[in-house]
Amino acid sequence: MSDWIIRGGAVLSGTVPVQGSKNAALPILAATLLVEEPVTLTNCPALRDVENMLRILEALGVTVVRGANALIVDSRTAENWVLPTALSGELRSSIFLLGSVLSRFGAADAPYPGGCEIGNRPIDLHLKGLRRLNAQIREQGGRIVCRGKLTGAVVDLEYPSVGATENVMLAACRAKGRTTIRNAACEPEIADLGAFLNACGFRVDGAGTPTVVIDGVETGHGTAFRIMPDRIVTGTYLLAAAITGGDVTVTDTRPETVEPLLSKLTESGCAVTRGRGSVRVRAPERIRSVGFTETRPYPGFPTDLQPLLFAVLSRANGTSVIVENVFENRFRHAQELNKMGAKNRILDRTAILTGAERLHGASVTAHDLRGGAALVLAGLFAEGETVIGHAERIERGYERMDEVIGSLGGSIARKEENLDDEEKTRQTGAGELPV
Ligand code: EPZ
Repeated sequence: MSDWIIRGGAVLSGTVPVQGSKNAALPILAATLLVEEPVTLTNCPALRDVENMLRILEALGVTVVRGANALIVDSRTAENWVLPTALSGELRSSIFLLGSVLSRFGAADAPYPGGCEIGNRPIDLHLKGLRRLNAQIREQGGRIVCRGKLTGAVVDLEYPSVGATENVMLAACRAKGRTTIRNAACEPEIADLGAFLNACGFRVDGAGTPTVVIDGVETGHGTAFRIMPDRIVTGTYLLAAAITGGDVTVTDTRPETVEPLLSKLTESGCAVTRGRGSVRVRAPERIRSVGFTETRPYPGFPTDLQPLLFAVLSRANGTSVIVENVFENRFRHAQELNKMGAKNRILDRTAILTGAERLHGASVTAHDLRGGAALVLAGLFAEGETVIGHAERIERGYERMDEVIGSLGGSIARKEENLDDEEKTRQTGAGELPV
């Protein structure tokens, strides 16, 4: 476990280039199993979750070369379709490897992914979609065992699940015939996955829209691809400006992928400037409350930014209401923020926030990735020091957050506890092995 110490009273200002998207990189890495030639990926973030995915691929026999600015992934050497239990358990989103492993080998065997801090995270929609493509699936002894030669079909998703959409897309690329996914998730990361698959010679139409049509082909070919920018990390650093009354510009990003947040920031009294690949937020000393916000699948307000907005509204002038429609247990940061002087009440999926003039440092716990990042934002504003326990959970999604915040004038000090080098590398995905 690693603690972070956040010093309060910061007013963040400066420019930060945003990292590559975790939630685009993970399905794209899973997709490398579909081509039997080397793939070169750039802008892939150095994160714990990405490192875990790479280790799962290596356990399947894939060759991974971690360069300073690029990853080379070569699945010609892949020969194993049994996902390792420990690593797959650690990375629950490894479940969308099912589609690509099954497509590649005609078989797949994965541990049943557990729930996590924010919800049960069922996979019924994944399995229903794969069965529509002729996968025979048995669930036994905590594992999911799949067999079958995949054939195209119409897949109607009862809910626009991001992971289920990705799993079916990966399974459909080399299936015999046409697959149409209806009520597909429209998140930008789906469009990025579709762009990657087409760059590999697959035939994917409509990725990022509610209807995705895929015509199966025998196999794909290698390519070089740049992962899209991370829209949630973009929003996080813009919200860091908002909570500290600062002036922050995020570059190398796509403003159009964070529009729901930008309109909230404008409503709160921030000056928002959209540039070519950049967004600048200049915040007033204290933002206004923004009334009512509810999370929805894209293009609605993203659930992943809910904890971050929650922290910022905890100090706004006025009362705000947030409804979390996507996950059933995504308010665990609320009690931690109340330890810092925030005033919020949770009624099932609804949070009522009465903005506090001040927050004060406290010892708090990062229960999950985005909830932990929310505590960092609150700590940057609070008076005194905030100690965040289980801060390693934040590093699952944020690359070198302490350095980024430091470059903007804030202060995050690490209190590592006897982590050996192996554990440090595993946790941050940092470090480069020889190319
Ligand atoms: C992806 O998770 C993201 N993770 C999440 O980001 C993100 O919050 C989520 O999409 C929603 O945008 C990655 O891309 C790695 P879903 P995923 O399937 O695919 C229910 C972060 O912080 N559902 O769209 O798991 C589910 O319970 C993470 O970066 C079913 O009922 O999300 C949830 O209520 C957190 N059955 C809702 O759908 C299923 O088979 C949305 O889940 C699948 C999902």
